[in-house]
Amino acid sequence: MLDLVTPVRGRVAFYDLSRKQESFAEALVRGLSSMPKHVPSHFLYDAQGSALFDRICVLPEYYPTRTEMQILADHADDIARQIGPEATLIELGSGSSVKVRLLLDAMQRPSAYIPIDVSGEHLLAAADALADDYPKLAVAAICADYGDTFPLPETPGSGRQVAFFPGSTIGNLEPTDAEPFLAGWARSGVDMIVGVDLVKGREVLEPAYDDAQGVTAAFSLNLLARANRELDADFDLSAFAHRSRWDMDESRITIGIESLKEQTVSAAGKSFHFDAGERIETEHSYKYSVDGFQRLARRAGYRPEAVWTDADGLFSVHYLKAGPT
Ligand code: AVI
Repeated sequence: MLDLVTPVRGRVAFYDLSRKQESFAEALVRGLSSMPKHVPSHFLYDAQGSALFDRICVLPEYYPTRTEMQILADHADDIARQIGPEATLIELGSGSSVKVRLLLDAMQRPSAYIPIDVSGEHLLAAADALADDYPKLAVAAICADYGDTFPLPETPGSGRQVAFFPGSTIGNLEPTDAEPFLAGWARSGVDMIVGVDLVKGREVLEPAYDDAQGVTAAFSLNLLARANRELDADFDLSAFAHRSRWDMDESRITIGIESLKEQTVSAAGKSFHFDAGERIETEHSYKYSVDGFQRLARRAGYRPEAVWTDADGLFSVHYLKAGPT
């Protein structure tokens, strides 16, 4: 069982399990010294990047957020039946804890909510607001990378433990990482509700990752702006461009930043040479078929129990059951 670190603001228990991660400076130097150049996608999400991502979520071209919300709203009762009474919901990468309310409102006597997120302050504020709105719910917030392994706190209620992983964030993991990630939760006997973006035509996918207003481009280029702000770098943002494309063979959107000319840039006290056309890879966003994702889930030890999609087949929400039949 977890030891309580700081009980805060009345009803929310808080556990700080964050560990020292590779810093932005270390990751940038390592990534820009590699071939091909790459930077892990979580560095896109500083305060500015997170605000830009919130804007992406409401763009007309970016269908995943609104489509998943609609699926959750339309099928909340069915999903709640799968979850069963007195369950504990564990949200992976909980952010503002918005979508989970659709489930909590439909569930039968939910007993506990465990949001997990790396951003401690944001996590606490969201958990606090949620605890106010659901006074009967035990709320225990864990500040951690949801990809890490750690014990869960003891919670009241005799129902199932169910992880909620919305947004198709699972698509940002390489499939070879997604499988062991799911397998870890399956081994702990935790069911999983996971949002998964579906394979579809290039004409829908590519604008979703390169919108007309240029918000996604600003989100990508914010990585370089962040290096300028934090690491004394001298990236000229007008000499780089956001690039994204649907790679059908890999079933993923490949996202990166392209150098528009040959240039040398300094960052974190080092120099980095770019050829014209050379790219920094920043994100992969994998898309699955319903069958393809269910096969992955089975390999991870889960039993796909139900799946809900929208009428246009854009997005899917899966209920995966852990443990024996
Ligand atoms: C967070 N994640 C699910 C987004 C996606 O669709 O892969 C990240 C994103 N990057 C650019 N647009 C959206």
